[in-house]
Amino acid sequence: MARFQVRKLTPAFGAEIEGLDPSRLDAEDCRSLRQVFDDRNVLLFRDLDLDRTAQFRLAEIVMGKESPSDEEAAAGAAQQDGFWISNKEPGAAAPFGRLMFHSDMMWSDDPFQILSLYGVDVEQPAVPTVFASTIHAWDTLPDSLRTRIDGLQAVHVTGPEGFDSRRRGSDDGRLVQPIRDVVLSSTASVGHHHPRTGRTMLYVSQGMTKEITGLSHEESENLLEDLFKHLYSPANLWQHEWRNGDLIIWDNLAVQHARSDVSTDGPARTLRKVATPVPVAAEKTNVASYQPIG
Ligand SMILES: [Fe+2]
Repeated sequence: MARFQVRKLTPAFGAEIEGLDPSRLDAEDCRSLRQVFDDRNVLLFRDLDLDRTAQFRLAEIVMGKESPSDEEAAAGAAQQDGFWISNKEPGAAAPFGRLMFHSDMMWSDDPFQILSLYGVDVEQPAVPTVFASTIHAWDTLPDSLRTRIDGLQAVHVTGPEGFDSRRRGSDDGRLVQPIRDVVLSSTASVGHHHPRTGRTMLYVSQGMTKEITGLSHEESENLLEDLFKHLYSPANLWQHEWRNGDLIIWDNLAVQHARSDVSTDGPARTLRKVATPVPVAAEKTNVASYQPIG
């Protein structure tokens, strides 16, 4: 028996893990955590006190690594020393603005697999992070839409510049995009297989999918609009209200993330970010700055 409790966050996906001490995991705990993760795709832990190395180690365990050594965990964490999502921390990613739904590096052939954020300095009211399940969206896709996407592929790009303004919705917060030194793209099936679990995902996103191939711009936007309506419908979403000591580990492909407008003048919102395994492709596209668009 694993020594923790599992509480579903929504009927569709997500689980809060209660009563777990990450520094004292036995083999059965690790196996159970992996099972819950592959089934629910998002794990929430509250009131944890852990450093970057412990955060990296826990995510590695969740991904399936048997027992990372102290040296491996410390090295993996050290390579990501500057990874922060913050409106206060100098040099942090996404320091302000609104982010549309996306999977990190969806535009790459080697996107991040697992992401985690830990609440280091969170003042209230903190802007929540919203998650959307691509797997539940696929499983519940209406037949009429399933027929329309049969055999189609989509192109994903590094930023939303030039996207149809309909994508931005009615939220008037400032959209932000990273300005990169190169623009990259990748193409994948709209019904895309998850590399680790083999589950099928509805693999398009508001923030990174440029177009569906083989369709006119208008047809592509209309189809994407219909897919987004389903993917981002309330039954596919979960919103997390941040507190200090919260840790969320999520599957970056099975679940997309977004947030509304964050201000640099607002309450502190500093989250420690760790990607697992250590990303390689990220080095190809340095982010020079973040700028509002629209
Ligand atoms: Fe992101």
